[in-house]
Amino acid sequence: MQVVIVGAGVIGLAAAWRTAAGGATVTLVDPAPASGASSVAAGMLTPVSELTYGEEPLLRLGLASRERYGAFAAELEELTGLETGHRTDGLLQVAFDADDLKYLDDLRRFQESLGIPSEALTGRECRRAEPMLAPGVRGGLLAPEDGSIDPRRLTAALLAAAEKLGVQIVRRRAVRVVVEGDAATGIGLDDGTVLRADRVLLAAGPWSGDLEGLPPGTVPPVRPVKGQVIRLRTRMPFLRRTTRGLVKGSSVYLVPRADGEIVLGATQEELGFDTRVTAGGLWELLRDARELLPGITELEFAEVGAGLRPGSPDNAPVMGPTALPGLFAGTGHFRNGVLLAPVSADILSAMLLDRPVPEVAGPFSPARFSEVQA
Ligand code: GLY
Repeated sequence: MQVVIVGAGVIGLAAAWRTAAGGATVTLVDPAPASGASSVAAGMLTPVSELTYGEEPLLRLGLASRERYGAFAAELEELTGLETGHRTDGLLQVAFDADDLKYLDDLRRFQESLGIPSEALTGRECRRAEPMLAPGVRGGLLAPEDGSIDPRRLTAALLAAAEKLGVQIVRRRAVRVVVEGDAATGIGLDDGTVLRADRVLLAAGPWSGDLEGLPPGTVPPVRPVKGQVIRLRTRMPFLRRTTRGLVKGSSVYLVPRADGEIVLGATQEELGFDTRVTAGGLWELLRDARELLPGITELEFAEVGAGLRPGSPDNAPVMGPTALPGLFAGTGHFRNGVLLAPVSADILSAMLLDRPVPEVAGPFSPARFSEVQA
């Protein structure tokens, strides 16, 4: 089985590793592996804390992935000798005002209705859990099993693991799908080279539908949703765990790492393929973070960046065979690419290798959009 995967972000890399481990010959095409949204992302593994009404199937997918993370990260670390920064120390979500607290209370009820207990904390209990929180914080919710990972370390380890298993990395741009008869049989590159394949997986985030030769409607529209992120550094302990806050209805999060990095994110902007970092975006993040953690202004500034999340029409992943035989989609992971990498790798590799697919994949087939269009 020859498989070509277009896109070496966290999803393409994880799928390549698992598909090669399953016995296929895999080629991964990307001009700059691991450099897109995966290198900007903070790496929250927080399906419970980010639960949204109407997205219960996504919660189940997220929980299935979070469950896999420990073994996934351990296997990667053992194979490559590289650390991934995987942490399972929970997520504390805090409220700035009474309305924010009401939202968290509703969220807790919703979580409980789905059988997921999370712990409601008073303002004082929040500050005991995270002493740097502002005295005015009203209360919060603790999701003890949520966690985080360092996406830059993770993708470096995935790239090393894939190469170790013989995945060929082609640092070029894919420009077209080769279609023969009624099936995809390969990918054309920007230098004219054609890579032949029995199966092609499109995992190029918001660029997944960009290839020439794709019959219209084959890949559902995936739009870029910009996220600006600030990286700070501290030498003193500042946060014990990932902390998310609601400040007058707008959300902000901080993800601490063992090496002193703290990632502060993220804006959510529908501006096409714009990756400019703006003064307004950074100001909003710092303004809200300072309301919750006044000491943040003392931290050292390290870096800013903007990434493009791939958002499908229903903001859920698009994984599975497309209407064009031989062509598979693995995109649309929106705010959850890092969280969903382990389960997506299992799903996509099973599909590419004709093996039993985890049931949790059911609601995420590309066919859900063609049925709507029909
Ligand atoms: N998963 C967090 C974000 O996309 O900002």
